[in-house]
Amino acid sequence: MASAERGQTKYQVNLRRYLRESGVDRDLIRIICEIANASKYIINAIRTGDLGVAGTSNLYGEQQLALDVLSDRIIQKRLMFSGVVAKMASEEVDEIVEVTVPTNGRYSVAFDPLDGSSLVDVNLAVGTIVSIYEGDNLLQPGRNQAASLYVLYGPRTTMVVSTGNGVHEFAMNQLMEFDLVQENITLEGPARIYAPGGLRSKYTEGTEKFVRSLEASGTKLRYSGGFVPDINQVLIKRGGVFMYPHLNGLPSGKLRLLYELNPMAYLVEQAGGAASNGKQRILDIEPEGLDHCAPVFIGTQESVALAEQFIREQEG
Ligand code: AHG
Ligand code: MN
Ligand code: MN
Repeated sequence: MASAERGQTKYQVNLRRYLRESGVDRDLIRIICEIANASKYIINAIRTGDLGVAGTSNLYGEQQLALDVLSDRIIQKRLMFSGVVAKMASEEVDEIVEVTVPTNGRYSVAFDPLDGSSLVDVNLAVGTIVSIYEGDNLLQPGRNQAASLYVLYGPRTTMVVSTGNGVHEFAMNQLMEFDLVQENITLEGPARIYAPGGLRSKYTEGTEKFVRSLEASGTKLRYSGGFVPDINQVLIKRGGVFMYPHLNGLPSGKLRLLYELNPMAYLVEQAGGAASNGKQRILDIEPEGLDHCAPVFIGTQESVALAEQFIREQEG
């Protein structure tokens, strides 16, 4: 397997080469590299684009697209012409997106082109989340994913990816290519940080008790309001828990199974962590539609088991 360091010589291993040397299927590599390419344009739009609202025009009289719509177009186009994608689903589109150009696509891709786009105006980190399945069925349990990844647009642009063989981090270099930063990120032990989404006053008894137990054991609060940076922190700091629980009045929480939860659950499980809706493994949920939402507790196995225990005791 490729490594950032061999013997005494340190050198960069880029994303494509790393995946190739890991024996990943060629078409799957193509999809991951198309996303890597798309992210160059997305980060450029985030950094330099007007914070225009969809439907308004810019200095040159051109129609402006909101950044999430623009990101969606960029990714759709790259996947559409990749020749290896059968079907697509985007958080920005209500229906499955058919690939209208000739393709031998053996994979289907669900993506959230720009998660947390409402954080761009306050200059906080945002991300792209991608879930990949073999075949043309996007409505199946997340455990069947062939790969998942996210790109985080923070002070640096990074990609965290798994093709079912551990979780690896890459960072965009001056040439806007992704180089390996670290292989086999793992999550262990109790949570040292926690990221609680949703209004606390709407928490149910089980979640409230879980959060109190985290506070009592000195777990630090680290919540940015962006799912990608919040999960990235849990992974890179190697121990934490993120939740967007079921709320009073919002029993399915906020986050979407297809575009947000399944890809993140796949990565976190690949890192040795767990993801649950409080009662059931996220990756075992049968999606009922493209917009299926579920509560989520995701992070180290120990912390997710604790959340499940409080919910079972308090809520049955
Ligand atoms: P999106 O921008 O794709 O609609 O979703 C944002 C998500 C996610 O990034 C974050 O965890 C959550 O919304 C935050 O929601 P609250 O503002 O309700 O805490
Ligand atoms: Mn989202
Ligand atoms: Mn989005």
